[in-house]
Amino acid sequence: MTTTDQRAPTDGTDIEVRGLSKKFGDFTAVQDLSFRVEPGRITGFLGPNGAGKTTTLRMLLGLIRPSDGVGLIGGHAYAELPRPLETVGSALEATNFHPGRTGRDHLRVLAATHRIPDSRVDHLLELVGIPAAARKRAGGYSMGMRQRLGLAAALLGEPKVLLLDEPANGLDPEGIRWLRGFLRHLASEGTTILISSHLLTEVEQTVDDVVIIANGHLVRQGSIDELHGDLSTLVRSADPSRLALALETDGIPAFPAVEQGDSALQAMTGDLVAVGESALRAGVAVHELRPLRTDLERLFFELTENPDNRNRNLEQS
Ligand SMILES: Nc1ncnc2c1ncn2[C@@H]1O[C@H](COP(=O)(O)OP(=O)(O)OP(=O)(O)O)[C@@H](O)[C@H]1O
Ligand SMILES: [Mg+2]
Repeated sequence: MTTTDQRAPTDGTDIEVRGLSKKFGDFTAVQDLSFRVEPGRITGFLGPNGAGKTTTLRMLLGLIRPSDGVGLIGGHAYAELPRPLETVGSALEATNFHPGRTGRDHLRVLAATHRIPDSRVDHLLELVGIPAAARKRAGGYSMGMRQRLGLAAALLGEPKVLLLDEPANGLDPEGIRWLRGFLRHLASEGTTILISSHLLTEVEQTVDDVVIIANGHLVRQGSIDELHGDLSTLVRSADPSRLALALETDGIPAFPAVEQGDSALQAMTGDLVAVGESALRAGVAVHELRPLRTDLERLFFELTENPDNRNRNLEQS
């Protein structure tokens, strides 16, 4: 190897996508996509419908051949992995389980082909919360049950990397909360987790990092904290101009928060106590004081729906 790998082996298995492209005929679904997914973190792979998320995951899993570039798991293409099931677990969208077979049998078949004992199957069904349902035919499963069975299948080989396509789809709020805790636990043990979603707000509380694509292009990559931007505070008061002056004097820039109404100011600090103290010293009654966060839904829309990134596929129809 010409590059020096400074990461110790215990650091886990990363995902690296380099210049990945996929054309279907003359339609470019994914174009020159590059990003890295860190071990021990949950990364949200986000983009509107048709952005190229599933296509990218399928390339990473060696299910379709890239037109250009590479997708590497722990430095290897999927096809070169000596023990794929123990390295990568995956659940792609619309996973079809044989309708006449029980969920448990589905996993047992999969386990047998990889010499994984049945005891692990039962353990996993317990873990994903469908031990009883798994004895029923999969044809009668709800969306949420199918998601949980897919997750159990992905975890069979105790993989170091998890690729989950829209895992929160069809889960009720309780299910989403459960999934969040479950993935967090796996990440804390060092698992590298990439989960796709077409809703940033759906995974906002789940992910550490985001990779946002639109129209097959990368539009933003970073931590969720970076996406939230600088912390600021909304303060509503009886006298916003006097309060703005008082805050400025205390070294806190403040501006009218126009969208929040006439009495609101946006103070450029995350320190609510400092804002409250400043108001008290100025003798201004505070009516509301709260952290102001970036509206991620709007940010996501701005990032993915600007004219350059608008989904050609949907426009054609
Ligand atoms: N086998 C194929 N042949 C032709 N076009 C395809 C094929 N697979 C995907 N596409 C197109 O590539 C684009 C990206 O599709 P993809 O399924 O990767 O999107 P996605 O981001 O997963 O969307 P969604 O949120 O709806 O799941 C779409 O325009 C889709 O129609
Ligand atoms: Mg998809």
